[in-house]
Amino acid sequence: MTGFEVVILGSGLAGLTVALNLADERKIAIVTKRELLDGASNWAQGGIAAVLASDDSPESHISDTQIAGAGLCNAEITRYAVEHGRDAVEWLISQGVPFTRDRSSESGYHLTMEGGHSHRRVIHAADATGHAVQTTLEAKVKAHPNITVLEHHVAIDLITSEKLGLPRPACHGLYALDDKAKKVVTIAADNVVLATGGAGKVYLYTTNPDTATGDGIAMGWRAGCSVANMEFIQFHPTCLYHPQAKSFLISEAVRGEGGLLLLPDGTRFMPEHDARAELAPRDIVARAMDFEMKRRGLDCVFLDISHKSEAFLKEHFPTIHGRCLELGIDIAREPIPVVPAAHYTCGGIQTDRDGLTGLPGLYAVGETAHTGLHGANRLASNSLLECLVFGRAAARHILSQTRRQRASLPAWDESRVTDADEEIVIAHNWDELRRFMWDYVGIVRTNKRLERAMHRIQLLSEEIHEYYSYFRVSGDLLELRNLVLTADLIVRSAMQRKESRGLHFSRDFPNQLAEAKDTLLVPA
Ligand code: SIN
Repeated sequence: MTGFEVVILGSGLAGLTVALNLADERKIAIVTKRELLDGASNWAQGGIAAVLASDDSPESHISDTQIAGAGLCNAEITRYAVEHGRDAVEWLISQGVPFTRDRSSESGYHLTMEGGHSHRRVIHAADATGHAVQTTLEAKVKAHPNITVLEHHVAIDLITSEKLGLPRPACHGLYALDDKAKKVVTIAADNVVLATGGAGKVYLYTTNPDTATGDGIAMGWRAGCSVANMEFIQFHPTCLYHPQAKSFLISEAVRGEGGLLLLPDGTRFMPEHDARAELAPRDIVARAMDFEMKRRGLDCVFLDISHKSEAFLKEHFPTIHGRCLELGIDIAREPIPVVPAAHYTCGGIQTDRDGLTGLPGLYAVGETAHTGLHGANRLASNSLLECLVFGRAAARHILSQTRRQRASLPAWDESRVTDADEEIVIAHNWDELRRFMWDYVGIVRTNKRLERAMHRIQLLSEEIHEYYSYFRVSGDLLELRNLVLTADLIVRSAMQRKESRGLHFSRDFPNQLAEAKDTLLVPA
């Protein structure tokens, strides 16, 4: 058994922010299932929303967040996030993140526009903001003597007082599969932080990397934490539609800088759906695209930014320009084929303003958490903001706590399992889950579709539980186990919401209720 003062699960922006804000005073481990940079944060294109210009104001950012969130954002949390945004961005600048500069702007940085924002307020590093942030912080993490990085370690489950038969509820550590050595290790910790990102891989089409399998949400739930608002899965309107391009996002900043959505004959359709047209919040744009594609039998629609100069596109969107060109699409001359794809999990483990879950010693930060910032639909570029603001808050809270006596933890028991006989069961169940979630629990839902999905989830859950009980764990099995549980939480939450609000649209309940309420699920 090894032990650390703080163990952080996940190495995206939330995890690295917590780590770097603690490391001068605590011994930390970052446990990550692939390599340090293999997460959704590294793929983030757009940027970080923060009030940095003098013609902007916190009130305006708060109001835009609440409008996108369709009346369900937590007012106190939203204000806290917005009011701490500038400090968080300044912290990143002090770490050396090379944000795109603009000498003519008073902040010295270029601020871009995205859907749902009433001001230019998104600070970015061209169209690869996540990569610029993550590589800068990765270097700091690797150089810090108090941070141990455990790569290729797949967390299995948290070790709680309940499992140890101890009286006072708390989290004491976790079991993780060392995927290289193929053995399960026991890691004790005074505090554990879940920062494993979202669950985009529960859907067939997603902008997320393969790592987005809902691990922290599932582990937190199994440890007894409540989850909130899991029905609100955000579909990003513009994922590249191309047979060779897996999960490639076309940043919302393309629409922010004037990109227009077109039907194959070149007609714009967004003005018919919303007065804000292409700059409406994502739920509205994705639903309008879905409607037009289904109505006209289209495989995709098109995003056209070819009216901008090639020099502008190469300067602002070098990654998108380069990747599209590799695939034979010259965005300076022709429109880009796009479709909506699962992008962001707005719900998650219920936390307070300091990232603390209902279980002492356990925190959740970033996409894994539900702070209440995003309500029924996240405003563009508020996700990295949330990782930073609440990552720093969680670190401060951990530092304010007196250290606990570390419990002695039992080793992982493998005495009753054998090697799996048929790995095909895992691969088949992965595919089946992702396909029916796409077909039945997508942009437009109905009671019947949700019931069909739930029935299949129950069958899969039984099969996976049996597999988990009899066979040695593997990375794929652990991810599937978490994905199926996350799918169950999404569908149960969707069934509880008897209205359409934000990202949850039901044909059976097309209206929005007068009172906005969170969907809270509490483990039995
Ligand atoms: C994008 O660049 O469109 C993604 C940014 C976000 O998800 O907020």
